[in-house]
Amino acid sequence: MKKIQISPSILSADFSQLSSEIKKLENGGADMIHVDVMDGHFVPNLTLGPPIIKALRSHTKLPFDVHLMISPVHKYIKNFSDAGADIITIHPETTDSLIDSINHIKDLGKKAGVSLNPKTEISVVEKYLEKINLVLIMSVNPGFGGQKFIPNVIPKIKELSRIKKDKNLNFDIEVDGGINFENSKSVIEAGANILVSGTTIFKENSGDIKKNIEILKSI
Ligand code: DX5
Ligand code: ZN
Repeated sequence: MKKIQISPSILSADFSQLSSEIKKLENGGADMIHVDVMDGHFVPNLTLGPPIIKALRSHTKLPFDVHLMISPVHKYIKNFSDAGADIITIHPETTDSLIDSINHIKDLGKKAGVSLNPKTEISVVEKYLEKINLVLIMSVNPGFGGQKFIPNVIPKIKELSRIKKDKNLNFDIEVDGGINFENSKSVIEAGANILVSGTTIFKENSGDIKKNIEILKSI
């Protein structure tokens, strides 16, 4: 089994001090930084774009795990790559050609991820699993932090994990949305190796980031 990694979502950080929030995450043992990009169109919320990612790039050595919830996504991929994204994850619904967008991300030298909404089937991504670096399973409907985990994504994580083993593939399985100390164990046991978390990491134990990351990693 791969080592469990934590990708804290800065959606729950203090946006007026993002550089120090990112330092705190780095010092607290985060493995990467999850950046939720929302367009007010594919999802009903608006967040941030390439200029902020670029401004933050020099403030941490951790990889930027950029989750694009924007449509159409293809024409903006290079902007996020140039800004300093290391992993670029897209939703299949936001591009005319998923394979072209995956190839574009990889041609830019970045890791390519595909994200599946709770209702999006694994079959949408199945034929690209050899090519991509990561599948991001959404355990809430994307758009907002602080939502409740949808437990029926657990069988989906198990199914993806089974396909990965059967085909002897190496992509990461990342799970995003409503992860807390109660459900993290079952998510990891189902086969996830990267957990995204905003609310739990920034708010539990009076915001003790290091402690919260340690608890999420332990199963
Ligand atoms: C939802 C985002 C998630 C979410 C994580 O659209 O993709 O990254 O904000 O935050 P919590 O852990 O609060 O659900
Ligand atoms: Zn996300």
